[in-house]
Amino acid sequence: MDSTLAAAWSRLTAMAAKPGARDIAACFAADPARPARMTWALDDLSLDLSRTSIGDAELVALMALAEAADLAGFRARLFAGEAVNVTERRAALHTALRVPDAPNLHAHASASAWGEACAYAVAERARMRRFVADVHEGRLVGATGERFEAVLNIGIGGSDLGPRFVCDALTQVHGPHGPGGLAPRFLSNVDGHAFASLARTLDPARTLILVASKTFTTEETMTNAAAARAWLAGRLGEAAVGAHFAALSTNRQAVQGFGIAPERMFGFRDWVGGRYSVWSPIGMSVALAAGWDAFAALLAGGHAMDQHFRSAPFPENLPVLLALAGIWHRDALGAASLCILGYDERLRLLPAYLQQLEMESNGKSVALDGAPAAQPTCPIVFGAAGTDAQHSFMQLVHQGTDLVPVDLLLAAEPDHDRPAAHEILAANALAQAEALAFGRDRASVEAEMREAGADEATIAAVAPHRVFAGNRPSTLILFRRLDAFTLGRVIALYEHKVAVQGWLWGVNSFDQWGVELGKVLAKGIRPLLEGKGKAARAATAASVFRLRALQAAK
Ligand code: F6P
Repeated sequence: MDSTLAAAWSRLTAMAAKPGARDIAACFAADPARPARMTWALDDLSLDLSRTSIGDAELVALMALAEAADLAGFRARLFAGEAVNVTERRAALHTALRVPDAPNLHAHASASAWGEACAYAVAERARMRRFVADVHEGRLVGATGERFEAVLNIGIGGSDLGPRFVCDALTQVHGPHGPGGLAPRFLSNVDGHAFASLARTLDPARTLILVASKTFTTEETMTNAAAARAWLAGRLGEAAVGAHFAALSTNRQAVQGFGIAPERMFGFRDWVGGRYSVWSPIGMSVALAAGWDAFAALLAGGHAMDQHFRSAPFPENLPVLLALAGIWHRDALGAASLCILGYDERLRLLPAYLQQLEMESNGKSVALDGAPAAQPTCPIVFGAAGTDAQHSFMQLVHQGTDLVPVDLLLAAEPDHDRPAAHEILAANALAQAEALAFGRDRASVEAEMREAGADEATIAAVAPHRVFAGNRPSTLILFRRLDAFTLGRVIALYEHKVAVQGWLWGVNSFDQWGVELGKVLAKGIRPLLEGKGKAARAATAASVFRLRALQAAK
């Protein structure tokens, strides 16, 4: 590591070690204007870092880290389509998927990697749009002539989590967009129970099936696609398959091999990583369920965040600030996890989505140059919708032994007609932020207990359990409404945050070698379950033996 960069890292750690450096309440006491000064916004979307221990000095040190790491250079290379994914020699140009349709935008830049990517993405998007309109308007129907009512997306990882989350967020309250909007269904797990329970709820004659797989070789997806195909052919006949299937993939040959015609394949390129692919044809189920306008608004929101990330100075740049706050918590304060609380039922799948985005991107311990990573990288991401989370794991976040930074997301205006419920929700979100930051001291607990008539022995025994130490950081992300545009902004905010952090940690955010070994070993273990061959490891052999014994005993 270069010495300026090493010095920037050491400075951060040294700052965190100073007495009082971690004290959120002291930060507020020292600076009454802190709430406004520590909040940044892109239009109505704001990022409030005031309830952290980051102040001016920490910001200066974090910005110095960004400069020492040449974050600006990385950002320029990312958008230029350079092979930032060094281990796979690929660009990461998912931002090209959300550029507007305007043809002149791409004509100018068509000679560059970025321009070519935009031109290809826009052309493929036009094909998607025609397909969606044909389905919605009843020109494309099932083999029996009935209109489609449900869309089944078969995919896993990035070919599932993005469309599943976005469909859930956009159709949960009002249902599929009408007229013609399809009910979204998702099949990811190779566990046969998943397909069995889904199949029970689907009418094959009215189901459109999307096989979503970048590679079109993923074992789980291809197994499920074959099961769905057999299910459909079993009920409607083999000739029906063509009318009910479409493919979202980069692998034309494999799609054809499966029996899906080229005109029903919607493509993207290897510069789209799975976890960055909801903006590509992988988002087809979003357009079919929530409507084309919603899909277009999602892309527009993502593009708005791209423009901001690409042009805003780092001290005002939301993804950069969110990333640097995460670096402060992870590397200066040693927090090994990150809790995501969307105070919005429509964000209930956000934690699962971000788990892949953050942990598959930056869950690495080897740096770009092959050496061990110089500092701790991605925290463990978990979360749930608020207020549900308050009644499960938030106990640990408030009073456990580990520091768990929290991201809270909240819309100002709900999309339902019960304002009182939204006020309760919002009050709870703000209460969590306040309790985490400021806690509750022993004196106030004792006073309250005394007032309630508790005797001194009870107070002495119980009061320590009711104390909240506080000083637990949270980041508040507020926006006016959770519409498709804002959802796009939020997702792109986190995407860029992840890219910035990966660069600062010196890891490749765009590969995922850590998922490979299990896939390879599973292939070798499968024959053992059928009694063929010998396990390489005694532990595996013993487990296989026990499993087979249980099967034989039935
Ligand atoms: O789990 C590894 C992974 O490669 C993810 O990165 C990806 O999103 C998922 O598998 C699915 O891959 P595919 O879209 O090629 O089926």
